[in-house]
Amino acid sequence: MNILVTGGAGFIGTHTLIELYKAGHTAVVIDNLSNSNPESLRRVAEIIGLPEIPFYKVDIRDREGLEAVFSKHKCDACIHFAGLKAVGESVEKPWEYYENNINGTLVLVDVMRHHGCKNIIFSSSATIYGDPAEIPITENCPKGQCTNPYGWTKSMLEQVLMDIQKADPEWNVVLLRYFNPVGAHPSGRIGENPNGIPNNLMPYITQVAVGKRKELGVFGNDYPTPDGTGVRDYIHVCDLAAAHVCALHAIDRKCGIGIYNIGTGHGYSVLDMVNAFIRVNHVDVPYSIKPRRAGDIATCYCNPAKAAAELGWRAQYGIDDMVRDSWHWQRNNPDGY
Ligand code: NAD
Ligand code: UFG
Repeated sequence: MNILVTGGAGFIGTHTLIELYKAGHTAVVIDNLSNSNPESLRRVAEIIGLPEIPFYKVDIRDREGLEAVFSKHKCDACIHFAGLKAVGESVEKPWEYYENNINGTLVLVDVMRHHGCKNIIFSSSATIYGDPAEIPITENCPKGQCTNPYGWTKSMLEQVLMDIQKADPEWNVVLLRYFNPVGAHPSGRIGENPNGIPNNLMPYITQVAVGKRKELGVFGNDYPTPDGTGVRDYIHVCDLAAAHVCALHAIDRKCGIGIYNIGTGHGYSVLDMVNAFIRVNHVDVPYSIKPRRAGDIATCYCNPAKAAAELGWRAQYGIDDMVRDSWHWQRNNPDGY
């Protein structure tokens, strides 16, 4: 298939492009580069062994820009990564998050249907479960109260896409609820490249290890978890990327609506991650215990059985691979791209 990849220059998008080409698909990328660097796409092409990946610097809110891309390229499906994703920033700038993520997706979907492309895989998030009603989380777990506007954009967009599919069954909509993506391509050429101070655990750990930050703050050690620190379902970004290729099979089978948790099913604490990073990479990661971070929950991990049964997808990488590949990327690219 030929796939339109929105946000394809970003962290998960770049890794997914590699999996798409590996599986025999082709791609057209659009990205406004608000949180990425075109060097990432140059490196993707280098890894795949192509001169370049078709790329347009287009914003998903730009109807004419999208029309031009769809007129030039016949796309069978869209993998929709484009969006703003910083939780804290979304609390400061709710309007910008709702406008970019929701309005952007509405424009994208409208242009898609005008061009007869009614297949979409959407990047959702475990955040839509709020403080989850059950652990491990299955897809039947009710959606919860999000603690920030970013989370609400994901929750609302799930509803928007499901309603559109219900009204027009020609649509196939796959909602992939990602748990915590970490790691990097084993080549060490592409990886996560956050602007400024990282919000997420793994890039913070790697920046401490490489000497860019003094120490990691561990946000709370009094949660009801085995060691008191927060537990999450970390998933290697290459596994996550592969899930999108499996989701295309569901689209091929005319799945209608498909909703899947994409995680490993294992919960690791903050200290598990820090200790694995030190053990595998033989580098020090100084840390100190800080107060809990507002909005955090104690434990979040999934039951990924539905994705295994229906998509034939299972995570292949473990925690040692995740910390090794995260470090390989950071050590080779201390200042990102
Ligand atoms: P990322 O920021 O690296 O990639 C997103 C890309 O979208 C960036 O390249 C950015 O420039 C682009 N973009 C943003 N707004 C755009 C717009 N209006 N028009 C065109 N391009 C635009 O983020 P990522 O980690 O690769 O995440 C990809 C998707 O997965 C996002 O939708 C994110 O919310 C979702 N997600 C990420 C995580 C995570 O922890 N990384 C977890 C759950 C869900
Ligand atoms: N943590 C620290 N110190 C840090 C950063 C994080 O102790 O400097 C802890 C957090 O308190 C939490 C765990 O590490 O217990 C993971 O935190 P992250 O910020 O890496 O990830 P979250 O689970 O909070 O959120 C992530 C994404 C969201 C997404 C969510 C669920 O940032 O976008 O996973 O998919 F919605």
